[in-house]
Amino acid sequence: MVGLLQLALETPRLQGKVALFTGRARGIGACMAKLFTKHGAKVVIADIRDEQGRAVCNDIELEHASYVHCDVTKELNVQNAVKTTISKHQKLAIMVKNAAIIDEAKPSIVDNETSEFEQVLSVNLTGPFLGTKHAVKVMIRERKGTIINVGSVSSSVGGAATHAYTSSKHGLVGLTKNVAAELGKFGIRVNCVSPYFIANVAAKDFFKLEDVGCSCSSIYSNLEGIYLQEEDVAQAALYLASNESKYISRHNLALDGGFSSINLSFGLFSKSK
Ligand SMILES: NC(=O)c1ccc[n+]([C@@H]2O[C@H](COP(=O)([O-])OP(=O)(O)OC[C@H]3O[C@@H](n4cnc5c(N)ncnc54)[C@H](O)[C@@H]3O)[C@@H](O)[C@H]2O)c1
Repeated sequence: MVGLLQLALETPRLQGKVALFTGRARGIGACMAKLFTKHGAKVVIADIRDEQGRAVCNDIELEHASYVHCDVTKELNVQNAVKTTISKHQKLAIMVKNAAIIDEAKPSIVDNETSEFEQVLSVNLTGPFLGTKHAVKVMIRERKGTIINVGSVSSSVGGAATHAYTSSKHGLVGLTKNVAAELGKFGIRVNCVSPYFIANVAAKDFFKLEDVGCSCSSIYSNLEGIYLQEEDVAQAALYLASNESKYISRHNLALDGGFSSINLSFGLFSKSK
């Protein structure tokens, strides 16, 4: 029994599959790309950070990973990323939309510039719309495929981030549900993974946290002593990309230790007691 379990854990879960990722040059995306290739996938990384994107590919081995410059807000770039994937590998089974930005935190909506709001929406919501639109052209022909959007705790909770970021991540869950409703008839699954705070470069920049002393213990966690890491998000995406989740579609998988649906500020299990 233990032997069988061990074998199941070691068997590559994405053998022979091709995955296109947006926003993979660093952070959570780079971690996902590495895990997916460890499980037998060929990956194409689409990002605007060319140097970092190529470096991630070199880390993985060029045989399994390649890079294409792609600004997700530009439809021709997105179209080209899908075309590049097909001409290199002749297929596309998985599309992960991870690229995102966040605007500067300001104390009042009155201080927010409309152009900054629109820029965040354009990367975080129009980007995934374009990625889906062009990837599914291939998937509909194949009558199979998996789309994974990377949301956030701000996909379901207000007050954790800026107005633009929160609006974009809520919108992404809406897009996930709507596209899942349309594409189920082609056997295409569409899901979202929504992580809580991870103390990586992007989050530390936003929350203005110092490297030294940046301990997650200062940030609320519902699971005592356990802190979310990039690897955990990669594992959740791996599950949604693999056949093990073959009947899961339109799901928003929250990686938040219960944060978005438990309110500990008041009630029977209040932390203040
Ligand atoms: N770090 C966290 O705490 C956290 C929490 C919840 C959700 N997330 C989500 O996880 C995902 C990855 O975040 P991260 O922390 O790794 O951030 P990150 O900034 O390290 O990664 C984002 C990637 O997107 C790319 N990108 C930005 N604009 C782009 C554009 N126009 N076209 C193409 N690529 C573009 C960047 O170059 C970068 O490689 C994002 O969707 C983010 O919203 C992060």
